[in-house]
Amino acid sequence: MTALSVSTSAAASLRADALVIGVAKGPKGIVLAPGAEAVNEAFEGKLAEVLTTLGATGAEGEAVKVPSAAGLKAALVLAVGLGEAAEDGYGLEALRRAAGVAARTLAGSKKAALLLPAESAEEVEAVALGGLLGSYAFGAYKGNGNGKEPVGELVLLAARKGSKDAKAAVERAAVVGEEMNRARDLVNTAPNDLNPKGFAAIAQAAGKEHGLKVEVLDEKALVKGGFGGLLGVGNGSVNPPRLVKVAYTHPKAKATLAFIGKGITYDSGGISLKPAGHNETMKCDMAGAAAVFAAVVAAKRLGLAVNVTAWLALAENMPSGSATRPGDVLKMYGGKTVEVLNTDAEGRLVLADAIVRAGEENPDVIVDVATLTGAMVLALGNRTFGVMANDDELRETLHALAGEVGEQSWPMPLPAELRKGMTESTIADLANMGDRMGGGLVAGLFLKEFVAEGIDWAHLDIAGPAFHEGAPFGYTPKGGTASAVRTLVRFAERTAAADKA
Ligand code: BES
Ligand code: MN
Ligand code: ZN
Repeated sequence: MTALSVSTSAAASLRADALVIGVAKGPKGIVLAPGAEAVNEAFEGKLAEVLTTLGATGAEGEAVKVPSAAGLKAALVLAVGLGEAAEDGYGLEALRRAAGVAARTLAGSKKAALLLPAESAEEVEAVALGGLLGSYAFGAYKGNGNGKEPVGELVLLAARKGSKDAKAAVERAAVVGEEMNRARDLVNTAPNDLNPKGFAAIAQAAGKEHGLKVEVLDEKALVKGGFGGLLGVGNGSVNPPRLVKVAYTHPKAKATLAFIGKGITYDSGGISLKPAGHNETMKCDMAGAAAVFAAVVAAKRLGLAVNVTAWLALAENMPSGSATRPGDVLKMYGGKTVEVLNTDAEGRLVLADAIVRAGEENPDVIVDVATLTGAMVLALGNRTFGVMANDDELRETLHALAGEVGEQSWPMPLPAELRKGMTESTIADLANMGDRMGGGLVAGLFLKEFVAEGIDWAHLDIAGPAFHEGAPFGYTPKGGTASAVRTLVRFAERTAAADKA
């Protein structure tokens, strides 16, 4: 993994393959962002002119390379775009994305110095995180020479006086970035190499490494406990389901958060089989479980004063002679019965079991994260997750925190009238499908049925942003994105801070 460090050296004397500076769109052409001063001096004050000649405009996503000038130790200067020029500091997301573009552009080189505008600890953290996320590459299946190695080392420059704060900020970014990259690895792993049992084993190993308590319910324990949702979904696969609990506790914690992740290691649709064109990326259907897992490990590594329990609802949804049929009735954990009308609406079934189980431990808040519905992708597109909740304030809080950490989200309602379709004309308490219109909200309403009285609950439908299929942008590569991890970590931080105050 790419190493991150802080240096107080002068830019000119830095031994690196490249010096990265920021440029922005000013009213009269490009402007150099703070941090580029020393490099500009080496260019005798003509760096903006040189970059303009090379076609630089300062637009977000842009990367322009210039051979270095005399007096600089690095051979290359890379200018990355920050968008519109700002007098009062660049936005944190612009910094993350610019650093991400730089890291991606410099893949294959050993060491790069980031001279982007980063004064405050928050800005330093943003640049470090963007750089680390942009350096990510999933190379597990590629032979040598088949794709460039990620940049080996990223150095952030800090003034001597602020270097202590900068160091702490970079360390924080390293924890969050490494855990996000862990979630991305899990999502990107081919589904023949990651089944529920294997995922549970990975959680156990990480638990041991980081001092987290991990409990795994295997198929026998699930039968004994009556987890009909997980078992019903897992029935068709030779790889049986698991329910994994990963617990982080802090001695001074006043609140307990339960994070529940949908962990379908492959979603074929089951007997209600998905057609070709809809199943090629369905290894990503465990992105919710990966996110909550990464978030609990990050909470532990950051030492947050809050208890966090992650629940991974793991199963493989496959068709076979033993698979659940459309028409079957499942008895869920806790006793509710569900008629399965469509075996492709499987996420809500595994989540329902986990929500009831998590509720037994009386957490203050439950947040579930799931690649739950294609309908949410139709509604919000590929980069925005939907936030639903049984409490207005919680929904608004999560939406706001997501924005602060650079994740796009949007609050969605749970309209009471959409509940009807799931409860009418069925031989069971509920059906796993209701109205087709508003399908993402129907799924949310289904989950709500399983939340115990008095517990605040939110549901993040990350079906759009969990897996990126387009060209890489900013710090987002193709494949797993680690959607929702930063929002969960920020929510845990905020809960810890609120309890202290
Ligand atoms: N895993 C899918 C949802 C999904 C779609 C995730 C696209 C990522 C990208 C989920 O299990 C599913 O199949 N949902 C169905 C529900 C329907 C049958 C009620 C859907 O959205 O079509
Ligand atoms: Mn499905
Ligand atoms: Zn699914």
